[in-house]
Amino acid sequence: MPSKKGYGFRAKSASTGLTAAATRYMNIERLAKITRSEAFLFCSRIEDTMSEKKLVVAVVGATGAVGREMLKTLESRNFPATEVVPFASARSAGTKVPYGDSELVVRELKEDVFEGIDIAIFSAGGSTSEKYAPHAAAAGCIVVDNSSAWRMDERCPLVVPEVNPDALEGHNGIIANPNCSTIQMVVALKPLHDAAGIRRVVVSTYQAVSGSGQKGISELETQVRQMFNLKEPEVNVYPHRIAFNCIPHIDVFLENDYTKEEMKMVHETVKIMRDPNVKVTATCVRVPVFYGHSESVNIETERKLSAKEARAILAQAPGVQVYDNPSEKMHPLAIDAAGEDQTYVGRIREDETIPNGLNLWIVADNIRKGAALNAVQIAEELLRRDLLGVKDRTVFIKK
Ligand code: A2P
Repeated sequence: MPSKKGYGFRAKSASTGLTAAATRYMNIERLAKITRSEAFLFCSRIEDTMSEKKLVVAVVGATGAVGREMLKTLESRNFPATEVVPFASARSAGTKVPYGDSELVVRELKEDVFEGIDIAIFSAGGSTSEKYAPHAAAAGCIVVDNSSAWRMDERCPLVVPEVNPDALEGHNGIIANPNCSTIQMVVALKPLHDAAGIRRVVVSTYQAVSGSGQKGISELETQVRQMFNLKEPEVNVYPHRIAFNCIPHIDVFLENDYTKEEMKMVHETVKIMRDPNVKVTATCVRVPVFYGHSESVNIETERKLSAKEARAILAQAPGVQVYDNPSEKMHPLAIDAAGEDQTYVGRIREDETIPNGLNLWIVADNIRKGAALNAVQIAEELLRRDLLGVKDRTVFIKK
């Protein structure tokens, strides 16, 4: 299992005691005169005011790649839970998952387990969410769902806390966490949209195998090992070999020859930004990277934004870290973003082929900001806004 530790922004320098990230941020401030985002605070631990509240929190899919990161994130952000209950399939019942310094015993997910649970964070696939989330909501337990099952359902807010936290008001008990590629893109694009009105987005993604869960990670690992041992790599998870390859095919193909993953980026962006005038066209590509999605994003805006203005706006944007100094070869890299909370933006430059265009390179940890962290931030925002409980328990299951 590849480690996310040791090579990221968090590794500390022996001489300065600073993390690599801190050193680079300082360098970049000095070299590029870019102020560090105040929004860093946004992603820091939740405020003391919330520590009064004590909750029972479930993680559904706790044995999976995202589920494990959810447990880690709840613990590391001091989420005020009196009890954290891990659920998975019957296969895993009785096994243990790490939670801080201790271990929790995994329980089997069933329809009647949600009584007494305040919030359930789901990452167990679309069909599991479709089946069990309505039962949770009917029991008064709020679901934050990481699958695509509920994202475009009009009854469910689709939330990125830095972008549209107010969408949580009036929720019906099921809240959707957007697709990982959409999350990091809208975190960076929303402040530019507010400033200059984005009209068109052309995005190509470079998505890590951890986006397919534990099985994607194992597939890349196994194929690399097989190829270094001069064996024929076995192809089980992806439609083609992923080791030393790029596959422009994520999720199923639709009638328009786009993939479902690509159309998620199109529709989810509009729902989150609440602006149907933002036109998105996407090409989603799986690459042989373990953690961290990268995106090449071209935008066309109503009002001209210079690269300098865009950098200044992004430097102040919540959840964003500008990391952009070409002369020093400083750009966001998946290996540096792995294990981090921020969305990193670099390679900011004007598109010289149109009057109002910009090119950006956006990188984030798909398991953290793209999944677990965003879900936990939603739970934090529910607390902050005093939105716990489900007012009408019959919305998803008619009594
Ligand atoms: P299990 O380990 O028991 O199969 P990943 O995305 O990394 O593959 O993880 C998927 C997660 O979803 C795992 O925790 C898996 O549990 C869980 N899961 C899959 N199917 C179900 C199900 N029918 N009920 C509950 N949990 C499920």
